[in-house]
Amino acid sequence: MKFLLSFLAVLSLAFGVFALPHSGSQLKGRSFRVERVQRGNRPVHGPTALRRAYEKFGIVPADLNIDLDDFEPLTKKHAAVSRQDVSEPDQTGAVSAASVQGDAAFVSPVTIGGQKVVLNFDTGSADFWVMNTELSTAAQKGHAVYNPSNSTTFKKMEGATFNISYGDASYAYGGVGTDIVNIGGATVNNQAIGIPDTVSDAFIEDTTSNGLVGLGFSSLNTVKPDQQKTFFENVADSLQEPVMTASLRADGVGEYEFGLLDHSKYEGDIANVTVDSSNGFWQFKSEYYAVGDGSVKNITETPTSIADTGTSLMLLSQEVVDAYYAEVQHAVYASSASGYIFPCNASLPSLSIAVGPRHLATVPGHLINFSEVGVNKTTGGKVCYGGVQTNHGSSMQILGDVFLKAFFAVFDLRGPSFGIASPK
Ligand SMILES: *[C@@H]1O[C@H](CO)[C@@H](O)[C@H](O)[C@H]1NC(C)=O
Ligand SMILES: *[C@@H]1O[C@H](CO)[C@@H](O)[C@H](O)[C@H]1NC(C)=O
Ligand SMILES: *[C@@H]1O[C@H](CO)[C@@H](O)[C@H](O)[C@H]1NC(C)=O
Ligand SMILES: *[C@@H]1O[C@H](CO)[C@@H](O)[C@H](O)[C@H]1NC(C)=O
Ligand SMILES: *[C@@H]1O[C@H](CO)[C@@H](O)[C@H](O)[C@H]1NC(C)=O
Ligand SMILES: *[C@@H]1O[C@H](CO)[C@@H](O)[C@H](O)[C@H]1NC(C)=O
Ligand SMILES: *[C@@H]1O[C@H](CO)[C@@H](O)[C@H](O)[C@H]1NC(C)=O
Repeated sequence: MKFLLSFLAVLSLAFGVFALPHSGSQLKGRSFRVERVQRGNRPVHGPTALRRAYEKFGIVPADLNIDLDDFEPLTKKHAAVSRQDVSEPDQTGAVSAASVQGDAAFVSPVTIGGQKVVLNFDTGSADFWVMNTELSTAAQKGHAVYNPSNSTTFKKMEGATFNISYGDASYAYGGVGTDIVNIGGATVNNQAIGIPDTVSDAFIEDTTSNGLVGLGFSSLNTVKPDQQKTFFENVADSLQEPVMTASLRADGVGEYEFGLLDHSKYEGDIANVTVDSSNGFWQFKSEYYAVGDGSVKNITETPTSIADTGTSLMLLSQEVVDAYYAEVQHAVYASSASGYIFPCNASLPSLSIAVGPRHLATVPGHLINFSEVGVNKTTGGKVCYGGVQTNHGSSMQILGDVFLKAFFAVFDLRGPSFGIASPK
């Protein structure tokens, strides 16, 4: 989020005080699950995932200008599949073989004032907003839209606006209201919801999602004049434990759960580390790494990371990325794909990265094989796109879905803290 990085200091100074509606929630002491479903059955284009991540965090890629004559990208094919329509919200991913490479795009069903929409869960932002009937008819096309005037529980928040910008070509702004939001049974009665009258083309064209559920810290929330709490912050008091867990699997199926650590989903201990929420993110120390069985090395460029469900890839310090691909035969940085690519038959080592001061979290090599992106014109062999790419010197490393899929992940408001364990 471009503006979030540049205006973070301003935001946290300007909005130190919350003025909240009564965010009453019900069913105290329970826990709630929501499935994370895959958006249809489409392969995910690696460079597109990277571009989205860069836009979200305002990263400007430095063009390394190593164009490869022997690399033929599959752009046409991907342009065609990316126009495929959304799957039904309650389709449980039911992921066919083709979707193993389509891990990036997930959405989850959410009910607002009794109306069901599918939204992206994003621990890297803090605005809840939904495609709705205030948008032009053209913008609504292909989307399940929320109609506030059909909801007897909707209340307009007079004078309030939100304006979120995820990058030059991606934004949403408009009015704000409150309504009953139900996520997998966890309910908040007065959740602040952005009701945009304007969204960028990127959101209009992406008919697989109808908005976002921001699950970062509310210091990132853009509602004015009074900054609003996230769904997670609002629901926390009514939960058995103030936790949200993410069980995202490599096969594209996944689940978020509010309120409980489900012991059937992980084994061993949870490595629990202190979160620094001062930037609004689930951020922690991340000061060393190792490639495969290699020695542990310090990260000197950006020794801090955030856990972000809304980003597909892992964006790490250049030194880590370079060290990783040095161990992958024939891997090259392709400026035409804005990232590292490698022959699909390469053998991929694991990558370990520090989560907190003492824990080294290991992501197996097969998860770093993000997607097929082309063919090597010289060998005729398939070329794959790396799930680990550079953060271009950004102020943090971003541990997105490629990382999260390796773990049972715990977002814990106590502390706050972030934990990972081995998934079962
Ligand atoms: C919602 O409102 C629209 C008009 O704004 C109407 O056409 C539609 O039938 C309503 N739907 C329901 C379920 O009431
Ligand atoms: C939204 O914020 C951006 C800056 O991030 C600003 O340029 C734009 O004018 C704002 N739009 C509205 C409608 O307030
Ligand atoms: C890595 O960092 C630690 C602690 O900051 C330091 O003690 C150690 O010497 C560093 N190792 C290298 C190889 O720079
Ligand atoms: C294509 O194959 C050649 C020969 O093995 C290799 O040097 C080159 O790095 C490969 N390029 C890609 C993008 O895989
Ligand atoms: C990477 O995934 C592709 C399918 O997307 C598969 O064909 C290939 O064998 C995989 N390569 C590695 C090294 O895992
Ligand atoms: C990978 O595929 C290429 C092209 O088909 C071939 O030349 C190369 O020997 C293969 N490498 C491995 C490690 O199997
Ligand atoms: C993580 O640590 C915090 C204290 O820093 C504690 O309150 C919380 O219960 C721990 N969470 C888990 C899942 O162990």
